[in-house]
Amino acid sequence: MLQAASNSLQTDEDKYSLLLTQTESLISPLEPIISSLSNFTALLKQSFQKVSWVGFYILKDDSLFLGPFQGKVACTEIKIGSGVCGTSAEKKETIIVPDVDKFPGHIACDDGSRSEIVVPVLIKDKLFGVLDLDSYTESAFDEVDKKFLEKLVAILNSKLNLSTFHF
Ligand code: SME
Repeated sequence: MLQAASNSLQTDEDKYSLLLTQTESLISPLEPIISSLSNFTALLKQSFQKVSWVGFYILKDDSLFLGPFQGKVACTEIKIGSGVCGTSAEKKETIIVPDVDKFPGHIACDDGSRSEIVVPVLIKDKLFGVLDLDSYTESAFDEVDKKFLEKLVAILNSKLNLSTFHF
């Protein structure tokens, strides 16, 4: 089994560098997409103490629906344009929210959540869904997270044929 990056001795950049390699080896195009995405969320959660919740919301019809995740029970449906996830999906861009109370329309699945980052997953500019990470700490996510999470999403996209995924 893959070892989680140490939470105390490494910088986030160190942890993400390890995660890039681990993701390459963990994700297999020969296995069902849901298996790869599920393990990917577990890998992210176990690598970062600051992450309280991590998961995918995946486009079905005109809404985002809860996909593989790690953390507490969460909302199952988010409309495009709603909350941080729906806004990221609509704009097709990563959104960093240092303080969720200051994001109009933030959807509080967990009252303890203080900050958040949402990265869109696009298949050649077409929306597949979003990757959402929450934290109980304010300002937990920054440009380092954005850079590496976007790289990780690019690895998923290159190794998995996401367009074949259906709920
Ligand atoms: N906070 C998100 C909803 C999803 S939960 O955080 C798991 C949002 O505003 O879109």
